[in-house]
Amino acid sequence: LTVQVNKPGAAVNKNMYGLFFEDINFAADGGLYPELVKNKSFEIDARLIGWKALQGAANLDTYAVRNEQPISTSNSHYVRLTTRNGASGEAGIENEGFRGMGVKAGGECTLSFYARRGAGSINGVTASLVGEKGEDLGQVALTGFTNEWKQYTAVLKSSSTHNKAHLKLVLNGTGTVDLDVVSLFPKDTWNKRPNGLRTDLVQLLKDMKPGFLRFPGGCIVEGRTLSERYQWKETIGDVAARLPMINRWNMEFKHRSTPDYYQSFGLGFFEYFQLSEDIGAEPLPILNVGMACQFNSGELAPMGTASTKGGPNAPAAAPHDHAADDPSLDVFIQDALDLIEFANGPASSPWGARRAAMGHPAPFNLKMLGIGNEQWGPQYLERYEPFAKAVKAKYPQIEIVSSAGPSPDGDLFDKASKRLGELKAEYVDEHYYAKADWFRQNVGRYDNYARTGPKIFAGEYAAQSGAIGSQDNKNTWDCAISEAAFMTGLERNADVVGMASYAPLFAHVDAWQWTPDMIWFDNLNSYGSPSYYVQKMYALNKGTKVLPVTMPAGAKNGTDNLFASAVADEPTGEVVMKLVNYSTSPRPVSINLAGAKGLGKTGRAQTMASADLQTQNSLTEPKKLAPQESTFAVKGATLTYTLAPNSFTVLRVPAK
Ligand code: AHR
Repeated sequence: LTVQVNKPGAAVNKNMYGLFFEDINFAADGGLYPELVKNKSFEIDARLIGWKALQGAANLDTYAVRNEQPISTSNSHYVRLTTRNGASGEAGIENEGFRGMGVKAGGECTLSFYARRGAGSINGVTASLVGEKGEDLGQVALTGFTNEWKQYTAVLKSSSTHNKAHLKLVLNGTGTVDLDVVSLFPKDTWNKRPNGLRTDLVQLLKDMKPGFLRFPGGCIVEGRTLSERYQWKETIGDVAARLPMINRWNMEFKHRSTPDYYQSFGLGFFEYFQLSEDIGAEPLPILNVGMACQFNSGELAPMGTASTKGGPNAPAAAPHDHAADDPSLDVFIQDALDLIEFANGPASSPWGARRAAMGHPAPFNLKMLGIGNEQWGPQYLERYEPFAKAVKAKYPQIEIVSSAGPSPDGDLFDKASKRLGELKAEYVDEHYYAKADWFRQNVGRYDNYARTGPKIFAGEYAAQSGAIGSQDNKNTWDCAISEAAFMTGLERNADVVGMASYAPLFAHVDAWQWTPDMIWFDNLNSYGSPSYYVQKMYALNKGTKVLPVTMPAGAKNGTDNLFASAVADEPTGEVVMKLVNYSTSPRPVSINLAGAKGLGKTGRAQTMASADLQTQNSLTEPKKLAPQESTFAVKGATLTYTLAPNSFTVLRVPAK
């Protein structure tokens, strides 16, 4: 191979490798967002999802969601409990959490709830953490209930570590009591924030040094129907007043039943921006373009202000009544303009003031906005055009990511580029979920892509070892090494490929709908799949300029399953090479670092290798396959290096 060290080409986008976040597989509630109580405000369809009465309600007369004289109109449901006359034993309720509650020995949680006492003598509640076998892990009593709504808080500490604990609330006394907004929130959150995020999961993200964070999806942006679309304005402000909504991924299947999947929006748009800032990633919100998910209703918002109830001049829908509006496209466009003001406007602007009130007076410095997800065809273009024009007219500096279809074997140029190019979209968002060999065979996908149109955002991709969403679709090394091979093609084409992210990002081992996924977790532990480490190796070694690589005579990238790309990393003065040997034999390579004026004596290698392509990581072996570091001697301008069987190697050599 020859790497032309003295001929640096295109700049690598400094945000090239990033993250795709969607609330799928319990990624938010039950995952990154560590609230332990499910349906804390009893607002999920005014049902008791997540709750059950102690002792099978043997000691309760009433156990029901009510709405008379609620805490507020935005939080209009609560649970009413009335003890049964003459009953003995525990009366109360318990919450199951999200497939249980993860608690650590000595770990403290803030318990809080609102209570209002009715007739009788109930003057408090004893709250306990209970283990899977009924073990008592810790208790605290909260007393002093009155006949007005009042908030009660305490610290609840666990005596031991449990993955599937639950919270029990036992009434002290007999009579009636109303409870609402019951929260159990770990104190140990990222940056120790009261409404903060789960530390191990944020750490895995931060360790990747991601260039961007795309949120909140994915299909949940679209919703199954327009009334179930993601509406960012309903996810900011007081956490207790954010009303839950059914998740697009709420579904019942044999192996992956999650009929209890709702979005609490405790992790809302403010928290997404804050997370982006915390991990050093550019925020990339994706907004609904006025189209519901094409795989479901495919419902369309009427163009302009044609709707009966929506539109900028129409009276506001009842707060949080997701189903009440029937918005026209103008409503969606206004949401986008308001979002930019929320992120970037001065604290004196209406939406900037909302951000400031949440504790972030400084702007979030939003630079990019996605319009639509996986939508295409005339209906998309019809809506995209006025949407993009309005955004650009007010905020010309905002870069727009447009949508494109999932396109493993589609015609890239027809689908994505032509009209969106005319409409001056900065990016088209390509998605590919395909077999591992597709990734190796398509390493040249962008070699002949038009250099003048929108750039590519490879916004969702993952190699599949089985059917999507099936149990046997595993995060194998075969998938990850094939992604690494494909990514040499992204890197070589950095002049047109500006961003890339694996998808989906997270999955709870007991509550997933989609496989494979980059990071897996249970209620306490987490691990990165081999694909996580491939993404991380690219992100940490992205360099600054592409260097031309010539393969051996007669070969191109991928011939004989050898894949290569190279970049210069100007700040460190190193040449960085990515090499994939997809073969069962060790492969000696000689690499001519052509045109280098001087080379350092020692190079650094990071290698992921496993002869067994089926190797996976797991909760019990989280780093079975992870990058190994070593050094090697550099003797002259031609480097000889033996690539391990089935390996992905990054070589860094100091070079002038
Ligand atoms: O990543 C899972 C889903 O795949 C996303 O929600 C959607 O955009 C794509 O179809």
